[in-house]
Amino acid sequence: MAKKLIGPFTQLLPLANMPLHGALLDNTLEIIEKGGIVMEHDLIIDVGPYPILQEKYGATVTFVDIDTPTVCMPSYIDCHTHIAFSGNRANDFALRNAGATYLEIAEAGGGIWSTVQHTREAPEEELTARIVERVDALIKQGITTIEVKSGYGLSVEQEVKTLRAIQQAQKRVAADLVPTCLAAHMKPRDFDGDASVYLDKIASELFPILQRENLTNRIDAFVEKSAFSATEIRPYFRKAKEQGFDITVHADQFTTSGSVVAVEFGAVSADHLEASTENEIQILAKSDTVAVALPGASLGLGYAYTPARRLLDEGAILAIATDWNPGSAPMGQLMVQASILATAEKLSNAEVFSALTFRAARALNLSDRGQLKRGQLADFNIYMTSNYQNITYKQGTLRPQQVWKSGKLIYTKGEQL
Ligand code: NIG
Ligand code: FE
Repeated sequence: MAKKLIGPFTQLLPLANMPLHGALLDNTLEIIEKGGIVMEHDLIIDVGPYPILQEKYGATVTFVDIDTPTVCMPSYIDCHTHIAFSGNRANDFALRNAGATYLEIAEAGGGIWSTVQHTREAPEEELTARIVERVDALIKQGITTIEVKSGYGLSVEQEVKTLRAIQQAQKRVAADLVPTCLAAHMKPRDFDGDASVYLDKIASELFPILQRENLTNRIDAFVEKSAFSATEIRPYFRKAKEQGFDITVHADQFTTSGSVVAVEFGAVSADHLEASTENEIQILAKSDTVAVALPGASLGLGYAYTPARRLLDEGAILAIATDWNPGSAPMGQLMVQASILATAEKLSNAEVFSALTFRAARALNLSDRGQLKRGQLADFNIYMTSNYQNITYKQGTLRPQQVWKSGKLIYTKGEQL
């Protein structure tokens, strides 16, 4: 029988029928006690109290019995990573802790540029292997959809290599990868010409390849002092939009202006926002651009957190992602970071779980995942605990016992299937 009934779970949190925008109290979290899920192939057919599902579907399903105290909720979406890289930046970390700033290191030729040099040297196959390893580490945390940016190639040829490596990695992992072109991460130091000439070249030579080879439909840019100004990036985004790409922006990390550009172009997300002031918060809150907090970068740099509380209180859509990269955010632990952000910014559990599921899906322009309800992908995690509050309370150290993706068990703690 193709249909499966899984349960009963002590607590099942569907995270369905919740608002996309704004603050959420924990009493908005629906908790189904002794809950179950009916799935067929990759999709959810029904969610509800287990005895009712048993009666309704009993004759037509295969049973997947859960007999210990468990919590079940949608699996997580990491909507911002840079895991397509080679090399290591431990020395940048040491330099920063000795007093240098991220921007000073970048100006001296370290930072992103040093990772570009290592990544350019790596053959496509090696880069694919590194991505696969990192995706497997994320799956163990219950993450089943992962955005992966290029941006350490910074030439037409090297960006294509990176995006092809991501495409190849997709064939070897159980999670869904969402590739993004970040050729506008910084102007490469070996490029002969100014920033606008570089961006024009990328738009005219790389964009057609992205579409022809189906490498990505998303364009990102780092709008910052060490990278591109708002004025430089506007014509680039205009071309990307005209060609049908979704826009996402590295915005307001150290200085403002990125989030204003993001909203102006109807970007799916504006990410970072550590330096956002009331003005940017208001602009984001009135938009449908998802505000993505990256606490891993704040922790990596010893820097301010994204004003998540203010953003939510004003009505923004808040997502949280790892930003996993070798420079500012080498940790790659989503729930650890989200729980720490929750304590710093006073976020409710409802806000944290929404930020890691259906709100993060929105940042990737995906509407088929992030909630447990009929028609959604059967992507969910099972924790060995009887109280969902333990997940943030344990600050990411409580890992899922089982991870299900598109109706298949893809990971059981202690063994990779
Ligand atoms: O999101 N801010 C720009 N890009 C990355 C850092 C990349 C790097 O330092 O290698 C970020 O933090
Ligand atoms: Fe980033």
